[in-house]
Amino acid sequence: MKGAATELIHAGEVDRGVATPLTTPIYETTTFVFDNAQEVAAYNEGRSARFLYSRYTNPTVVSVEQKLAAVDHAEAALVFSSGMGATATILLAHLKAGDEILCGAAIYGGTLHLLHDLLAKLGIVPRFISLDELANLDRVFTDRTRMVWFESPINPTLRCVDIRRVSEACRARGVTSVIDNTFASPINQLPLALGIDLAMQSATKYLNGHSDVTGGVVTGSTALVAPIEKARRLVGTVMDPQPAYALGRGLKTLPLRVAKHNGNAQAVAEFLESDHRVGQVYYPGLTSHPDHEIAERQMSGFGGMVCFDLDGRYDRAERVYDRLQIVKRAASLGGIESLISMPVLTSQWGHSDEQLRAAGVTRGMLRLSVGLEDAADLIADLDQALG
Ligand SMILES: Cc1ncc(COP(=O)(O)O)c(C=O)c1O
Repeated sequence: MKGAATELIHAGEVDRGVATPLTTPIYETTTFVFDNAQEVAAYNEGRSARFLYSRYTNPTVVSVEQKLAAVDHAEAALVFSSGMGATATILLAHLKAGDEILCGAAIYGGTLHLLHDLLAKLGIVPRFISLDELANLDRVFTDRTRMVWFESPINPTLRCVDIRRVSEACRARGVTSVIDNTFASPINQLPLALGIDLAMQSATKYLNGHSDVTGGVVTGSTALVAPIEKARRLVGTVMDPQPAYALGRGLKTLPLRVAKHNGNAQAVAEFLESDHRVGQVYYPGLTSHPDHEIAERQMSGFGGMVCFDLDGRYDRAERVYDRLQIVKRAASLGGIESLISMPVLTSQWGHSDEQLRAAGVTRGMLRLSVGLEDAADLIADLDQALG
């Protein structure tokens, strides 16, 4: 007879082999059991499909990676504990001291600070470039340029970059191109099909879509993803099985959700544009948007993000922000709930007038992540908040 401790640890912990789940279960384990030394040796030599340790990978994690690779038309995908975890691991894997990275100046603040404050200390040289320079990379490449990192659409102005132009310029120079595709999602934009080498996304946003998982993803060729996988093992930025399960569940409705985000955002943008109380409206689906043509060429939907300006006036933006009832005041985006933020209080917090001008941001701007509520209710909420 075994003791209570032994029984409670080992009893019932078996593969029953009779229950075949429809969905991939959460493999809530940090490590995996082998039957003998031969199996471990086979794993070490790459001759086995078994799993060893969840910091390397886990079946629930692999399941979600396969979905993400398939939807991005990629050979390989990796998921991470956050979007920033993905970004940091990609950069550490592909850059070394002395390498220069050209980065769009209008970029997610976390990416900017990672490059400027941390990676610069390791000798990686970031250069932040304008939209015009991104469109004419031949003029800015140097002998040390190894990577170009950019977003499209860009937060919060939703300006779009001609993705094929960037990928072709990079290919011609042997420079790795990476896009942060978070705002578009693969349902609206497939950057790898436009020649981009690696596509990164914060899975915290549209991919999971329910504002309850923090995660990141990269997709690309096996050759470019392999060193990132190696780096992920070393820095430990892999996603845990529990959020991977939730992400996999969210992904199953991604096309349905994105279609509704697109429709709601177009309706909200058109309402705002037609309203005399609102100044400029930024949405790539409006013909008035400066990059509408580029967006139409490379996107199959214009996304769920809308930005509008109340004549640059902070007091008016603050009043509308405070009065909204259905739309919630919160950072982040891409969830089923409509969220609003003031860029000068979030992504552009602490920026000087000069920096705001460079990012195309004013103190009277509001950024809406249009959710899946009924469009008429969202419009009514905005209408009453505009007073
Ligand atoms: C465009 C973009 N990229 C990357 C990130 C970072 O993702 P995470 O918060 O999942 O680390 C964010 C987060 O807001 C983002 O908006």
